[in-house]
Amino acid sequence: MSRGVPVPDPLCRLDEIADGKARGFDPLAQGRDTMFVVRQGETLFGWRNFCPHYGHEQMAWQKDGYLTHDGARIVCGAHGAEYEIDTGICVAGPCVGRRLIAVPLELRGGAIHISGGFSRRP
Ligand code: FES
Repeated sequence: MSRGVPVPDPLCRLDEIADGKARGFDPLAQGRDTMFVVRQGETLFGWRNFCPHYGHEQMAWQKDGYLTHDGARIVCGAHGAEYEIDTGICVAGPCVGRRLIAVPLELRGGAIHISGGFSRRP
């Protein structure tokens, strides 16, 4: 996604997200986590905190709780839609085949940055 405003500050450092875990961020200081990052080793996946089933903007079932208990998929806490971490495609639950909105990321000097712009609304 290149639309939106630039986000010059890093989200955090890579080592501030444990391998295999997810963390939510509020890059435009909107008072809630509007996106989240899943880390798998040195690979990062950024997604809007926006479930395509009902356009729900609060997917986490608790702070940073974006993953299933086994860490294998992203899950929406509202109605249990499960998404592949790498593609964002829903593979189980009420909106199979739909997909999350990607947030392109880049790693610079060990810090995680949003690549391009970020909009207030998905
Ligand atoms: S709003 Fe996410 S599964 Fe229904």
